Amino acid sequence: MSLALPPNQMIPKLFRIDKIKRELSDTFTIEMRPEAGAGFAFQAGQFNMLYVFGVGEVPISISGDPADPSLLIHTIRSVGSVTQAMGEMQAGDAIGVRGPYGSAWPVESAYGEDLVIVAGGVGLAPLRPAIYQALAQREKFGKVLILYGARTPEDILFKKELEKWRGRFDVDVHVTVDRATGHWGGNVGVVTNLVAKGGFDRRHTTAFVCGPEMMMRYSVQALEKRGVAPNKINISMERNMKCGVRQCGHCQWGPHFVCNDGPVFRYADVASLFPVWEL
Ligand SMILES: Cc1cc2nc3c(=O)[nH]c(=O)nc-3n(C[C@H](O)[C@H](O)[C@H](O)COP(=O)(O)OP(=O)(O)OC[C@H]3O[C@@H](n4cnc5c(N)ncnc54)[C@H](O)[C@@H]3O)c2cc1C
Ligand code: FES
Repeated sequence: MSLALPPNQMIPKLFRIDKIKRELSDTFTIEMRPEAGAGFAFQAGQFNMLYVFGVGEVPISISGDPADPSLLIHTIRSVGSVTQAMGEMQAGDAIGVRGPYGSAWPVESAYGEDLVIVAGGVGLAPLRPAIYQALAQREKFGKVLILYGARTPEDILFKKELEKWRGRFDVDVHVTVDRATGHWGGNVGVVTNLVAKGGFDRRHTTAFVCGPEMMMRYSVQALEKRGVAPNKINISMERNMKCGVRQCGHCQWGPHFVCNDGPVFRYADVASLFPVWEL
């Protein structure tokens, strides 16, 4: 693999915010359009480096529909300086965008199989493009299961879309919360409980898992326990990033660079690293 950077790879392109939608108390979705040129092609699972001028640059997965490149969509949780600054932006403001970078959810390799999507918290955002892609070609899969866990009912991301998907007769959507509040009458407990219930053909299942690292560990364990092969389980990893293009080493994870070899990894390829904390 060549380490030479294509020209202008580090120069962000200017995008303008079309709309900001508040999803949860700490989470919002930004829809953007390029200042020049049309559209932004990407694959489900890829991310961009988003630059808030004068504040900093952060990696954020794309949460829109790969079939609609006219809008660039990201869903972001405010945790620190850059993401908080993004949350205070308004329609018309400019954001610098580098990308798309990284590997994609292997949606096509799941053709003919049951597809199990396991998401925790804001981890549903990087999976939403894969869900759009799978539902647009629903006939290519066996069962499609979406298993989602949030902290409380108030923390359920994309609630309306989850309800819409659940309203279809060809998708199984199960939602659970760690802690029930208000009038919640649904599942209570961790998302791994939903995996343990099964409902998919373990010999012919591909799984996509995204969420906090702890949730992914237990979800992978539960999938393996149900008999899903490690080479059919895919996870999306987060690490600190600076360049996003395999140059700075900030995102190194064992022999892998998360920005370039990931963020989506086949679990079989990283199984020895995955249980090691702080690597
Ligand atoms: C490939 C990739 C894709 C990502 N996709 C998304 C996405 O779709 N949506 C999204 O909201 N975030 C996503 N992230 C995480 C996002 O990049 C970080 O939350 C962001 O860099 C934090 O920057 P900051 O300047 O706002 O906070 P900082 O000032 O860097 O951090 C502030 C505090 O938040 C903590 N923190 C930093 N990152 C995280 C994190 N990931 N989770 C919890 N606490 C954190 C820090 O330890 C620190 O205490 C992704 C990360 C990667 C590597
Ligand atoms: S972020 Fe620089 S090498 Fe991955």
